[in-house]
Amino acid sequence: EKGGYASFMLKEIADQPQAVADTLLGRIDGEGSLSLDEVRIPDAELREVDKVVIVACGTAFHAGMIAKYAIEHWTRLPCETELASEFRYRDPILDQRTLVIAISQSGETMDTLMALRHAREQGAKVLAICNTNGSTIPRESDAVLYTHAGPEVAVASTKAFLTQLVACYLVALYLGQLRGTKWGDEIRTVVRQLSAISGEVDRVLETMEPVRELARSLAHHDTVLFLGRHVGYPVALEGALKLKELAYMHAEGFAAGELKHGPIALIEEGLPVVVIVPSPRGRSVLHDKIVSNIQEIRARGARTIVVAEEGDEAVVPYADHLITVPATPTLLQPLVATVPLQVFACELATARGNEVDQPRNLAKSVTVE
Ligand code: M6R
Repeated sequence: EKGGYASFMLKEIADQPQAVADTLLGRIDGEGSLSLDEVRIPDAELREVDKVVIVACGTAFHAGMIAKYAIEHWTRLPCETELASEFRYRDPILDQRTLVIAISQSGETMDTLMALRHAREQGAKVLAICNTNGSTIPRESDAVLYTHAGPEVAVASTKAFLTQLVACYLVALYLGQLRGTKWGDEIRTVVRQLSAISGEVDRVLETMEPVRELARSLAHHDTVLFLGRHVGYPVALEGALKLKELAYMHAEGFAAGELKHGPIALIEEGLPVVVIVPSPRGRSVLHDKIVSNIQEIRARGARTIVVAEEGDEAVVPYADHLITVPATPTLLQPLVATVPLQVFACELATARGNEVDQPRNLAKSVTVE
């Protein structure tokens, strides 16, 4: 069942290129246009949408955070991403023109289900992004876009996350295409790049041995911090969540710009800090800012573990450990940058003697609020 792998998690990490390809299959035509006919909300209604709200928990919430950047950029619609467990308790403002996207691997997460019920009661339309056919969340939604990750057995979500990202990009690009924003050309280019991305995920997987070695060398540490900016920030949160649930380590993700507002006080000699660096070819301001953040923490003794695009020479002098990922458009980088963090957490957990598929205190689907 594990296909020769030591754990389901390792198998599911390795399954990711296929899962990503399967989730794109049939949704992009030869001309680089998207068709999401299965989403049974008529285009006319989608054109009326004036606000998007995403609700999800855990890893799916991190996918939703990334989706916010993509949706706002490509559609120019305001988008909020909220923890499903907080959503209905703050009396959110929703109406017929609000599109609520509920993201859930299992389709059974009670917090997410209660949030979507609340949204529908207020008249909002709900689109589920889900990996489990016929589960409760898609059944109670107006429409569903399935991720085709196949069954995910390990408690820690890996391939479901990557396919949730793909589905979110598809929705963002589709809404952009439909609304005809000024990003039309960019949208067509990104659609083409997205259709090639599973090959890039595969390339990342081929270069993971040094990441495993690094993870083993850090097994005795108590704390690992993760920093990112823009879409690298949710990637940092996801890297930290993986490490918490699998390695039972104190791991925290921060927006790198927040460092000087507090977290930098945590930096001490030898503290491992993973930094997700955006492409130097994309928004160079972002890239330059994070390079200074790396310098700041290194000057205070941090052991820097830098995840950066291949050929990014600017980070080399400040990286104690460099993990390179293939070049992608800025918004798509999480699809490649998350993979080393999954491998890192899985290997650290194993080195610490933990059971990776069944971490303590956790269940695969959380059906209580
Ligand atoms: O099935 P769901 O996607 O709704 O589950 C949401 C979270 O419970 C889930 O992502 C959890 O955080 C994972 N264990 C993360 O690896």
